[in-house]
Amino acid sequence: MRTRPLKVALLGCGVVGSEVARIMTTHAEDLAQRIGAPVELAGVAVRRPDRVRAGIDPALVTTDAAALAARADIDVVVEVIGGLEPARTLITSAFEHGASVVTANKALLAEDGSTLHESADKYGVDLFYEAAVAAAIPLVRPLRESLAGDKVNRVLGIVNGTTNFILDRMESTGAGYSEALDEATALGYAEADPTADVEGFDAAAKAAILAGIAFHTRVRLDDVHREGLAEVTAADIASAKRMGCTVKLLAICERAADGRSVTARVHPAMLPLSHPLASVREAYNAVFVESDAAGQLMFYGPGAGGSPTASAVLGDLVAACRNKLSGGRGPGESAYAQLPVSPMGEVVTRYHISLDVADKPGVLAQVAMVFAEHGVSIDTVRQKGKEGPHDGAWLVVVTHRAQDAALSATVEALRGLDTVRGVASIMRVEGE
Ligand code: HSE
Repeated sequence: MRTRPLKVALLGCGVVGSEVARIMTTHAEDLAQRIGAPVELAGVAVRRPDRVRAGIDPALVTTDAAALAARADIDVVVEVIGGLEPARTLITSAFEHGASVVTANKALLAEDGSTLHESADKYGVDLFYEAAVAAAIPLVRPLRESLAGDKVNRVLGIVNGTTNFILDRMESTGAGYSEALDEATALGYAEADPTADVEGFDAAAKAAILAGIAFHTRVRLDDVHREGLAEVTAADIASAKRMGCTVKLLAICERAADGRSVTARVHPAMLPLSHPLASVREAYNAVFVESDAAGQLMFYGPGAGGSPTASAVLGDLVAACRNKLSGGRGPGESAYAQLPVSPMGEVVTRYHISLDVADKPGVLAQVAMVFAEHGVSIDTVRQKGKEGPHDGAWLVVVTHRAQDAALSATVEALRGLDTVRGVASIMRVEGE
């Protein structure tokens, strides 16, 4: 074993960074054996140096992240600051100075992953980011390496723990969205500003990363259709239950049937209880992958939190260190397929639509005609008279598969009918 240590710079020492430092220290012997050389924490860049950081030598702590990332003696930079800047500048500087980079920064990768990969290629170093998607769950490496000889057709995942927790609570306790969000905040799952989670930005960034790797195509955050949780009501959840479904915020990346394009989207959807993802409860994540040769695979585990994210960072750190020792590199970006990313309108899916209608002769026929006019075939219709002395009814229609554009045009036309008093809910049905 080489005695001269490999040097690691840690940028950020919050929940994840401090756990990375702790594991590096407590597992130092094992890491050295696995890598073939000792690994030394050579510097830790933080914003607030006055905070006590147990187990970290204060002499290593600096507020000058730029100087640390640019140090010529650093072999691997671990970036766990998050956000676009200064992370992008620091990572680029690390490459320019010969360091490989391990990052958990999903937002930056979804925004500008290709530029970062190009930069890593230019300087002959590694860019690894297993921790950016669903923390400890191995996804990036299996898609990039284990399935490199297969053809992935679909990636369907629950990749945000906060929203899964909220939906799980709404389903199991009958709580409304706000109440469930409050509980998620109290338990520390949701951030003080939960926008990125509940509006689907976090999941959309992960979908962009997964789609890019799975389909060997550049997919950016802007390419991902995104809808958050705000529209999901307790009535939707109850309706899903009646259909033998559950409601999940899904990230769905698909190759078109003709193989010539791909789509990536994040939105709440009804999922049959028989689907393996339906049993993913609380703040857990899971990703279901469908490929030509392997068939169906499922990856499950904790998708957030300090230790699970640090586990993924450490795995990448070991790989980057091994490459530094051998003089080799891991796989870079694979975007040779360059498939176009189609808009949401071209996605083929099913809708569950709940309508508030007048209960009188001809209403059902009128509604059915609107579906027919748009080429959308109806799978099931359920009508339930409203309780009380009025003439209204709930009409719940579930369609067969059709293009999303045709389905949304159908809903618009339904809104225009005199006999339709309101469209109470629209939700896609996936996973069949
Ligand atoms: N906030 C994310 C979640 C974890 O709730 O899953 C980090 O991506």
